[in-house]
Amino acid sequence: MDKKFQTALIHAPRKAGQYIETIQPPLFRASTIIFRNTDALFNRHWTDDYDYSYGTHGTPTTFTLGDNIAQIEGGKYHLLTPSGLSAINLVNSCFLYQGDEVWVPDNIYGPNMEHLNYLESHYGIQVRVYNPIDVATFQPTEKAKLLWLEAAGSITLEFPDLIGLVKKARAHNILTALDNTWGAGLAFNAFDFSNEHLSVDITVHALTKYPSGGGDILMGSVITQDKALHHKLFRTHAVQGIAISGDDAALVQRSLASMQIRYQHQSNSALQLLTWLKTQEAFAQVLHSADPENISHSYWKETCQTEQSAGLVSVIFKAEYDMNAIRKFCDALKLFKLGFSWGGPVSLVMLYNLADMRHLEHSHLQQGILVRFCIGLEDADDLVADIQQALKAL
Ligand SMILES: Cc1ncc(COP(=O)(O)O)c(C=O)c1O
Repeated sequence: MDKKFQTALIHAPRKAGQYIETIQPPLFRASTIIFRNTDALFNRHWTDDYDYSYGTHGTPTTFTLGDNIAQIEGGKYHLLTPSGLSAINLVNSCFLYQGDEVWVPDNIYGPNMEHLNYLESHYGIQVRVYNPIDVATFQPTEKAKLLWLEAAGSITLEFPDLIGLVKKARAHNILTALDNTWGAGLAFNAFDFSNEHLSVDITVHALTKYPSGGGDILMGSVITQDKALHHKLFRTHAVQGIAISGDDAALVQRSLASMQIRYQHQSNSALQLLTWLKTQEAFAQVLHSADPENISHSYWKETCQTEQSAGLVSVIFKAEYDMNAIRKFCDALKLFKLGFSWGGPVSLVMLYNLADMRHLEHSHLQQGILVRFCIGLEDADDLVADIQQALKAL
């Protein structure tokens, strides 16, 4: 059949990728997925993870990535979302109902707290804060439905008493959700993290960080091991129309091959920086849970048996340095760029006023301005030299 130019353009004869083997899986971009015939249409099972019916539910590209992330994290079922924060929000909006109580660590990722405050004001959810290194401060009532965990907290970097907290949540029949962005499935297995094979129920992961690794893509995941739990999340994901782009999924998939090597490099560099930062006069405190002097070190050690940790180190400047001085320091850095996020190739720096961020009293944290260093893929010696020259600006 002779086709008109416009038709020929759309029905191009060459279909790439179907019969050749390539290093990366083929990329599918889809809103519409074409059914072979009406039988296929009427027999579709869109709630089946591997039945393709419409782009929002997924394509082989997104399912391949999701399967890989689930495998890296030690889980089974996956959902992908357009950002780490939307993965967090998916969990909150799926499991919290009016009048429910949700428990969050005091070092929680700030936008998660903001989302929960929003739910509190709109839907009467009650938000309660606990100290992640003191399980006694987690005092659930019978209304408690969800316990959020972060290991480690992404700014002050305390590693929680994961074993104590998960055991207590289990005893009260409370669902546990871990923001697994820091560990990324590499520092420890959230679905089997103790000698007693303890497991969290749900992990969320900002794939924006280590899985993407490029500092150029936003994405999140929600991983579970339990089919019923997954199906609840799946329904919420579907009715909210949450979907990701095939191109983004393919780019993250491409970066997974180097993820462990990048994580290990950044973990090693963070430890090198930690050792050097601790020798510097300007800091009242250097924060990293792999530091034996860190208050949460024993929790890190019992959980992260691979001895790996994300490439994050924070410092609290001595109280004599005010915000103006610290701003001069940050502006003087050359390799560390000023920006949010982590896990990418370029080292980043961010400054925080701790007094604005905490709800509970924390005697283990000094007063002062906190600066977080996010280690990129540069040589650690150069990063040390960069901080050294910037300290002169103080
Ligand atoms: C601990 C943690 N969780 C979740 C997120 C959210 O990820 P995204 O930036 O993809 O929304 C971030 C981002 O900085 C984070 O640090």
